[in-house]
Amino acid sequence: MDLDSFRNHGHAAIDWITDYLVTVEEQPVRAQVRPGAIDAHLAREAPDRPHDVAAILADFERIVMPGITHWQHPRFFAYFPANASPPSVLAEILTAGIAAQCMLWQTSPAATEMETRVLDWVRQAIGLPEGFAGVIQDSASTATLAALVAARERALEGNGNRDGLAQHRPVTVYATAEAHSSVEKACRIAGIGSGGLRRVAVDGMGRMIPTDLAAQVATDGAAGLHPAAVVATLGSTGIGAVDPLPEIAQVCRAEDLYLHVDAAWAGSALLLDEWRWMIDGIEAADSFVFNPHKWLGVQFDCAAHFVKDPGVLTAALGIQPSYLTSSETGAVIDYRDWSIPLGRRFRALKLWFTLRTYGLEALRAMLRNHITWTKELAEWIAAEPGFELVTSPSLALLTFRHVPADVADLDAHNRALLERVNDDGFLYLTPHSHQGRAVVRWSVGARTTERKHVLESWDRVRVLAKTGYKEDSTSPKPSSPRSGSG
Ligand SMILES: Cc1ncc(COP(=O)(O)O)c(C=O)c1O
Repeated sequence: MDLDSFRNHGHAAIDWITDYLVTVEEQPVRAQVRPGAIDAHLAREAPDRPHDVAAILADFERIVMPGITHWQHPRFFAYFPANASPPSVLAEILTAGIAAQCMLWQTSPAATEMETRVLDWVRQAIGLPEGFAGVIQDSASTATLAALVAARERALEGNGNRDGLAQHRPVTVYATAEAHSSVEKACRIAGIGSGGLRRVAVDGMGRMIPTDLAAQVATDGAAGLHPAAVVATLGSTGIGAVDPLPEIAQVCRAEDLYLHVDAAWAGSALLLDEWRWMIDGIEAADSFVFNPHKWLGVQFDCAAHFVKDPGVLTAALGIQPSYLTSSETGAVIDYRDWSIPLGRRFRALKLWFTLRTYGLEALRAMLRNHITWTKELAEWIAAEPGFELVTSPSLALLTFRHVPADVADLDAHNRALLERVNDDGFLYLTPHSHQGRAVVRWSVGARTTERKHVLESWDRVRVLAKTGYKEDSTSPKPSSPRSGSG
């Protein structure tokens, strides 16, 4: 592609994205294709000869788009949001164009210095105390893995990296069953194993019970194991449970445990004074992560990871081959030593663009709206005969189920209802199992959502629950990929 052609197609691509964002509401939220439907239209081998870019773009619309689930849709209430605000998309385009690999300060000083500065903006904005230093990881999963490797090496005084784990007392980590699956995955990868992850009991609201934490740590210590870390969750994925940090921190201090706090989704709400109580006690934490790529509007991927002592992280993850040394080594931050992968994208740019374009006030207003509408939704659900609000809103997440008197298997019934809702395409919700019961999660958080979208979606759920899927439904219908292969 010559650069004139790149310019022309690039302008067209921006036009395409703009039109997409203007019309996304007309699409079914969840892709309505069956497994294999997209692959059936893809060529079996890479082409030997060049294809015209206009033809590739046409195939993109024809083949790819029917297989896209629309995360920027205003009636996306599934999982947690992955908001990509237009300024963050612009920054991402610039990042892709510059294509700097920002592993060392020297390989793009602006990327490193902006990462440090913008994360300090974020630190201040969410009320983390001074002294926490930030790094952008690709995901909360990676941040948790990095934190647990750091915790392991802190406990083993660096000898785990040197010897492997077989010669040392088994390391244990503590979290609740509400904690995200990335915690267990991190334990597996870090050599701690699923068996080394102890599940601490929770109260009726899914919050860690600190006395059980203390008891399990004592039992494991007495049994010759090596308790190393606690992962506390602020805003659990299933129901938004918030673990009590002050009491957990007390146990961590007493037992010399590394405390990592996973606030992947809920951390954005720390911009709001009224939610700051969630980080009471945070000064005792060693590590904290939240995802601006979820609720804050920063194009995926961008996980803000803060650590109290970067030396613990870099001692665990740093490695010094001669080809990665530079004249500034030791005098500047080389973020490669703070991360699992060596290569790093210039992610700070999209955070900088987003925060500058909107300002914190506008972001706070968006968060407050989502929280308010979720509260209203909870009231509508609780007041509707035949429905049960299972867990009250935590920030902008609630769970509910349909409980008609004449249905024996309510779990199967709610799973079927969820399928009907998502097949209908008007809105998108996801399932959860809470205390052994199938429930439906409703998470309000898309940047484009307005109150009317919550209201009309709740109406649609009520109709689908009561009448089932109607053939004459006015839902948007998916377009299927047309024939031909790209
Ligand atoms: C509480 C929590 N932690 C971690 C994650 C994983 O986030 P990521 O996709 O950034 O790894 C999620 C994802 O939803 C989450 O809800």
